[in-house]
Amino acid sequence: MSPYAHITGWGMAVPSRVLTNVELEKIVDTEDEWIQSRTGIRQRHIASEEESTATLAKDAALNALRVANLNPTDIDLIIVSTSSPEHIFPATACLVQDWIGATHAGAFDLSAACSGFIFALDMATQAIRSGSIQNAVVIGAETLSRFVNWQDRNTCILFGDGAGAFVLQSGDEPGGLISSVMRSDGSGADLLSLPAGGSRMPASNETILNHQHTIHMNGREVFRFATRVIAQATREVVTAADLKIKDVQLVIPHQANLRIIEAAMRGLEIPLDQCFINIERYGNTSTASIPIATCEAIQQGRLQAGDNAVFVGFGAGLTWGAALVQWTGPFLPHRHIYPASYRVWASIRSQLLRLLRRIEGWIWGRNI
Ligand code: ACO
Repeated sequence: MSPYAHITGWGMAVPSRVLTNVELEKIVDTEDEWIQSRTGIRQRHIASEEESTATLAKDAALNALRVANLNPTDIDLIIVSTSSPEHIFPATACLVQDWIGATHAGAFDLSAACSGFIFALDMATQAIRSGSIQNAVVIGAETLSRFVNWQDRNTCILFGDGAGAFVLQSGDEPGGLISSVMRSDGSGADLLSLPAGGSRMPASNETILNHQHTIHMNGREVFRFATRVIAQATREVVTAADLKIKDVQLVIPHQANLRIIEAAMRGLEIPLDQCFINIERYGNTSTASIPIATCEAIQQGRLQAGDNAVFVGFGAGLTWGAALVQWTGPFLPHRHIYPASYRVWASIRSQLLRLLRRIEGWIWGRNI
């Protein structure tokens, strides 16, 4: 029988700098009252110059490994879901792999906007269930503040920076990720996009002057799409798991807009107190919002071992998806694992490998 993919570790990292709505009033023509009543957001975290998608991803991953009591060398796969990668290439996941010393892991990025974390969870689960890997780290990380037009009040009020990570481990006991759906509709690609900087529209003076390296969004259309697909995807995963909505203890939706969540929960006839919401403190952290919310739900005792939880997200693409998880918790009893200490060895190893490459290049260069 196929093994199950259990979530045994979780961690988050957000920048310390907080940007409140009241501060935003000084940057753009908006009001705290408008933002709170239309979105539910009160503040968001913004990355400093020293922070980036990869540094936040690395911190979240180390925190998740600490909870799982797993060493970085035990990881077989790292997936970073992000729409604000460190570079177009190399993958942000490879930087994280090097920094944390995950010497046996394959690492790649996944781009499915705010739904990306669900898609990445599904990919890692399939790899575990097929038996090809044992342990995976799935990270959702964003610094969308770097891609926001701070003069556009329609978008700049929404987004915040942060990262969240899960450790997934193979196990024979039933549980973990039970069912999932991934859906896309590229006919809505223009509703939410970052037009320039790719192969279609490489960077030029014109693209910079036209703010085409920042987020463009049709808010009303995205709103309508989101309320519809959250309910639809939630129903699909619950049915696929052979359960009923009443069997779900907690829904953790993508935190994009409080009104979207309220409308979707009304449609599903799920009371709002069965849904975890923390948008007021983080804004929309895109693909990081579900793992960050999960970490806080656990901290607050809202998610216990054995509970059925639904993660549901939507975003640019258009993409949407959901996963039904039977919550597990750490497999291994608490061991004194300090994944962060691997960073010292990882850094020495990384420097040595660079040096070796230079020496090899020098030797081979002379012989060619
Ligand atoms: N402050 C004050 N007024 C504003 C602001 C602001 N920040 N932004 C817009 N307004 C004004 C508009 O100009 C408009 O004024 P007008 O009627 O004089 O033209 C009025 O408020 C209403 O504008 P709407 O766009 O209709 O406002 P709406 O209630 O739809 O709220 C919002 C806008 C919050 C963007 C909403 O549409 C929304 O949340 N949409 C979903 C967005 C979303 O979830 N995006 C993320 C997807 S995830 C991803 O993949 C990255």
